[in-house]
Amino acid sequence: MALGIRWTAPLAALALIGALAVGSARAQSAFDPNVKWGSKVKEALDALQLQGDAKRGEDVFGICAACHMPTAWGDPAGTFPQLAGQHPTVIIKQIADIRARNRKNPTMLPFAMQIEGSQDLADVSAYILTLPMNPNNPKGAGTDLPYGERLFKENCVRCHGEMGQGNEKDSFPLIGGQTYNYIVRQLKEIRDGLRLNANPDMVKQVNAFSDRDFLAVADYVSRLRTPNHLKNLAKLKK
Ligand code: HEC
Ligand code: HEC
Repeated sequence: MALGIRWTAPLAALALIGALAVGSARAQSAFDPNVKWGSKVKEALDALQLQGDAKRGEDVFGICAACHMPTAWGDPAGTFPQLAGQHPTVIIKQIADIRARNRKNPTMLPFAMQIEGSQDLADVSAYILTLPMNPNNPKGAGTDLPYGERLFKENCVRCHGEMGQGNEKDSFPLIGGQTYNYIVRQLKEIRDGLRLNANPDMVKQVNAFSDRDFLAVADYVSRLRTPNHLKNLAKLKK
């Protein structure tokens, strides 16, 4: 694995973003901008029917590595999330949502538009699942963990699972072991309505959260180790 080049890639990516702002995205599709939670984006439904080919997906991931890193661990500041280990159903839904403008992500949109269709979507998701998660992901301050744990158990476990492992079938994201800053930011974006296709029950809960709640629960989540994570740690050691 190309660990040596991890932190140089984002700079190249930022330069690219500037270049792309004046360029144009390759693929253009007609998406309904009004899709809300529960309504399915067609290309996601198509991709879910396809068998993903991880080998082909590695090529597609070339587009992604500039920001998400060749390891798919993202960056420590949490601008770019860790993708490694994420359920294919979640990757497919998020990319389809980003392409359909259900999830506002102007930075990634031009790159997401370069994916050539449902098969590429299935392939890149299959590849991402094979990548080991970051064993040393950035965490919070560790000063409010019992409170974070209580919030997590009361509010989040029923969808994201005890270990933050999510749920492949219902496309509930794996969140355990994600970069701390990214978790905090997502919770705020969900609260602020920037993720139009987020589960409404979660939105309701997160709306009631204080700043302390956000930080405490995110810190707790960043320290969770999912079964996927542990399996892949064994792979990393080889
Ligand atoms: C120019 C930088 C950039 C590139 C290139 C890029 N992304 Fe992203 N991606 C981002 C950013 C920034 C976010 C986080 C957006 C946010 O905060 O909501 C993101 C978020 C995501 C998410 C949502 C993650 C989650 O946990 O919900 C997925 C999935 C994703 N990217 C997959 C990909 C794939 C696959 C590719 C390659 C085809 C790719 N990205 C290329 C910048 C990029
Ligand atoms: C009713 C089910 C449900 C509950 C309860 C719930 N979530 Fe979620 N969560 C989801 C779904 C579904 C998504 C994906 C939303 C989307 O597709 O945009 C999500 C997305 C997220 C994300 C973004 C993940 C990413 O990779 O971008 C974070 C972080 C998150 N949830 C944390 C929490 C926390 C913390 C709690 C408890 C306070 C919580 N959720 C409660 C269903 C739930």
